[in-house]
Amino acid sequence: MTGPNDTVCVNSTEAAADNAAALTRYYRWHARLYDATRWSFLFGRAALIGSAAQLPDPPRHILEIGCGTGDNLLRLTRQFPDAELTGLDLSADMLARAQRKLAKRPMPVTLRQQRYDRPLSPEPAFDLIVFSYCLSMINPGWRQVLDSALRDLRPGGRLAVVDFHDTRFPIFQRWMAVNHVRMNGHLLPNLNAHCAPLLQTTSAVYGGLWRYFRFIGQKRDE
Ligand SMILES: C[S@@+](CC[C@H](N)C(=O)[O-])C[C@H]1O[C@@H](n2cnc3c(N)ncnc32)[C@H](O)[C@@H]1O
Repeated sequence: MTGPNDTVCVNSTEAAADNAAALTRYYRWHARLYDATRWSFLFGRAALIGSAAQLPDPPRHILEIGCGTGDNLLRLTRQFPDAELTGLDLSADMLARAQRKLAKRPMPVTLRQQRYDRPLSPEPAFDLIVFSYCLSMINPGWRQVLDSALRDLRPGGRLAVVDFHDTRFPIFQRWMAVNHVRMNGHLLPNLNAHCAPLLQTTSAVYGGLWRYFRFIGQKRDE
């Protein structure tokens, strides 16, 4: 039997699948330019990993969701040489680049090609989960992804997130939406609602064209 809520649910599931398919197509082309271009606007990535490394109790099991071409995984191998690392991404084109980059590292990194929309296992397995410029692209579905990540985090585990925050310029917001990015300050309040913040910063770039944020939070006790 179905009702109005089921219809909404089916529609949003389909919309989330459409979003994933659109991102897969988008990165088929953008993977080629990614490393050459993204340094100029995906700010705060190295600083996020650096801040995570300064906290006590280093994580032993780390997951990056939406790891793309693997730059953060590379940073994580340097900051946490004893940790087990997993990178997950829906785009085979992005992961192929990550694989090449990580091949020469002494410690193995597990790479998984899949869309993340549910917990990876019934038991939480990670001490640190990283999202770097990923959540702002999951529209719809970012709430479900965040909930799933919290379920994949061990008690006391940490979530480290860097992403676009907001912009005062509607035309820029629309341009970012064309590039699959939602930029209207929706992520930070939700992160705060689910995790006790250990680090939280917002920074303006390019004369205030947009702000990005860095957040590290500890999973709250259930
Ligand atoms: C802007 S890139 C960021 C890549 C990397 N984290 C970085 O900071 O350079 C966003 C990545 O998230 C991936 N992605 C988006 N939604 C995803 C999902 N639901 N599951 C897995 N990967 C996803 C995309 O394929 C893309 O590689």
